[in-house]
Amino acid sequence: MKKSLNNVTETYDKTAPFYDLLNHVYFFGRDSQFRSIIVENFNLKPYDTVLDLCSGTGLDFSFLLDKLDDRGTIIGVDLSLQMLQRSKENENRKMNLIRADVAHLPFRDNIFNAIMVSFCLRITPTYTSTIKELARVLQLCGKLGILANHKPQGLVGKLITTMLSAILKIDFGISLSKHIKKEFTIISNKLMHGALVQLIIGERIKKGN
Ligand SMILES: C[S@@+](CC[C@H](N)C(=O)[O-])C[C@H]1O[C@@H](n2cnc3c(N)ncnc32)[C@H](O)[C@@H]1O
Repeated sequence: MKKSLNNVTETYDKTAPFYDLLNHVYFFGRDSQFRSIIVENFNLKPYDTVLDLCSGTGLDFSFLLDKLDDRGTIIGVDLSLQMLQRSKENENRKMNLIRADVAHLPFRDNIFNAIMVSFCLRITPTYTSTIKELARVLQLCGKLGILANHKPQGLVGKLITTMLSAILKIDFGISLSKHIKKEFTIISNKLMHGALVQLIIGERIKKGN
C-alpha cells in the first residue's frame, strides 16, 4: 500500500469529526477494555511521564490520567491538527499536545516511563523509524503498549480489512512483532475481539540505536 504522510494527515483531518463514533461502532464499545489492559500493564507511578503516540482524539487519555497525579505528565503527539483539536474538546483537563511526525520525536533520550501506541503503527508510513524513536525516548525497563488493528480470517475479515485499508489507510501486511522485537523484549502478544485487535506489551531492555 503506497501512502505518504500528507496522505495520512489529510485522511485523519477529514475523519476527525466522526472518528470516535467509527471507533466505538467498529469495536462495539470494547476499545475501552483494550486501552485499560495496556494501562494496567504499565504499573505506573503517580509521578511518571507517559507518551501517547499518535494520540488522535485522545481516547487513551482518561485511562492514563486515572493513574497519575499532579506530578505526572502525559504528552500526546499527533500530526493531524483536526484530531488534536478534537482531543482538546474531548478532555476537559489540560493536556500537553504536540504536533509532530512520530518518526522524529522532539524529545531527549530516555525520558518516558511508558509509551502507549493505539491503532497507529499500521497507519504511519514511517513505522520502522518510529519504532527506533520509541526505543530512543523510552527509559531502560520502560514499558511499551501497542494496540493495532489485525486482519481476521475468512470472507468477512477480508471485507472488513479492504474497507478499513481504503478509509483509514491501515496496512494489514506489516508484521509488527518482527519490527518491535528488534528494539524491545516482547512480554505479551495476543489477539482479542475476534482477532480484530492485536495487543503487544514490550519492555525496553537494550539500548536503542
Ligand atoms: C487510527 S488513529 C488512532 C488515534 C488514537 N491513538 C486512538 O487509539 O484512537 C491514527 C492516528 O495516527 C496519526 N498519525 C499517523 N501517522 C502519524 C505520524 N507519522 N506522526 C504523527 N501522527 C500520525 C493520525 O493523524 C491519527 O490521528
